[in-house]
Amino acid sequence: MKPIRLAIIGATGMVGQTTLAVLHEWNVPLAELKLYASAASTGKTMPMGHVNLPVHSLTDDIRADFAILALSAELSKDWAHKLNARGMKVIDHSSAFRMNSDVPLVIPEINADTITSKTQLVANPNCSASVILMALAPLDQTFGLKRVIIATYQSVSGAGIAACDELKDQTAGILSDPRVFPHRIAGNLFPEIGYLDATQYTGEETKISQEIQKILRRPGLHVSATAVRVPVEVGHSAAVSVELSRDASINEIQAALQSFPGLVCDGQDYSTPMQISGAQDVHVGRVRIDPQNKNWLHFWVVGDNTRKGAASNAIQILQHWASL
Ligand SMILES: NC(=O)c1ccc[n+]([C@@H]2O[C@H](COP(=O)([O-])OP(=O)(O)OC[C@H]3O[C@@H](n4cnc5c(N)ncnc54)[C@H](OP(=O)(O)O)[C@@H]3O)[C@@H](O)[C@H]2O)c1
Repeated sequence: MKPIRLAIIGATGMVGQTTLAVLHEWNVPLAELKLYASAASTGKTMPMGHVNLPVHSLTDDIRADFAILALSAELSKDWAHKLNARGMKVIDHSSAFRMNSDVPLVIPEINADTITSKTQLVANPNCSASVILMALAPLDQTFGLKRVIIATYQSVSGAGIAACDELKDQTAGILSDPRVFPHRIAGNLFPEIGYLDATQYTGEETKISQEIQKILRRPGLHVSATAVRVPVEVGHSAAVSVELSRDASINEIQAALQSFPGLVCDGQDYSTPMQISGAQDVHVGRVRIDPQNKNWLHFWVVGDNTRKGAASNAIQILQHWASL
């Protein structure tokens, strides 16, 4: 990849800060890097390695080759096309464009081919969908998936910096009432991420199902998710049950999982969110065939929502796109 001019918009947030860490760790070639956030952050600096970079207020005069948007969906809707019109290619972290048929929704290990040199806007997937898809993709490619049933255990960092502060403050006894979440999160959990819709699924659950179908290019695939917020700082986990289209031995299944790039198979063992926090790879474990129905497989999957679920997946997209 040749050096590019990059703008990170929302650079002070959870995803923005992790993006800076990943750019530094991976030594991504940049001709220029400019950081933007709300007017309240003007004058702040953000660390990238040993360098402190200034944060600018978001205005119309941004110039760059690529922009990464780590903003709310409402702000992304305002800004993505404006930046495209100014000649920038945009990677958006929000849910604003993910289900648009003309916007690629990309996990590079699975569907990098949906980005072309003509693409203007790429959406980065939901953080739980990304982690779960890293295990579903090799199973679908090798055995075919018929049904997918998911229960997630999602960390507070998935809801941004204010949510992390809420868990810390409640744990320290500084705060007892919820500010970001619908209930107290310290010492608690709740099956409510996003609003309930007419189908009685929450927004998060619908995103997970629809994004899995889109990325696997399986629009009719039966996927049902229950999304649960847990008092963990970083790392999204999920218990997943899948019906395969054919019988497979545990050795065949583990071989398919082990050979998928970016996925580590823990076999019958498992990893915890604390163990994988800060890591790039997604871990799949507790892999077992249902003794009552050999076509059903159950497993545990865990990944860093701020990395593979967000920042590092977007940098992988950037590296691929900038090399086309
Ligand atoms: N956290 C995750 O694990 C994760 C994973 C996948 C996708 N996402 C998505 O990524 C996006 C960012 O999430 P996050 O967790 O990083 O949120 P966050 O920690 O709350 O950060 C939000 C960022 O948006 C900036 N911002 C707010 N209002 C602004 C304005 N009017 N103009 C310019 N910048 C503004 C904030 O700047 P100030 O500091 O100046 O307020 C901050 O940099 C969301 O759409 C989220 O759904 C998050």
